[in-house]
Amino acid sequence: MQRHLSRTILLLMLAPAPAAFAAGSAAPPVAQGCLGCHGPAGRGAGAVPAIAGRDAGELRALLHAFRSGGRPATIMDRIMRGYGEAEIATMAEHFAGAR
Ligand code: HEC
Repeated sequence: MQRHLSRTILLLMLAPAPAAFAAGSAAPPVAQGCLGCHGPAGRGAGAVPAIAGRDAGELRALLHAFRSGGRPATIMDRIMRGYGEAEIATMAEHFAGAR
């Protein structure tokens, strides 16, 4: 009984995540940390610029420029130093498709 119940609860907890990914609405894990500053779905918040719905190539170039220190920044240069090529590509694709 106890085991059956906890398995049911576990399934309920796991169920929504893959469904949300399939619909393309949820940010992939690597892009979750961006939302706190860039607002819900990356649409911008206060002084922090919007990154949703912009060209993927432009976003990738911006992220590379932050990472290399070629683009002046208050915080993005430090943030991007922690990410690799595949992660930058995933972020750029996600936010280009985000609304
Ligand atoms: C601590 C807050 C914070 C977090 C977290 C953050 N950003 Fe930013 N982002 C900023 C700020 C502030 C700027 C403006 C440049 C600067 O001062 O660093 C910016 C600028 C940008 C820009 C350039 C936009 C433009 O039009 O110039 C992009 C692209 C971007 N961020 C993407 C991301 C991505 C992708 C993530 C997730 C890895 C992320 N940011 C996480 C605060 C944040």
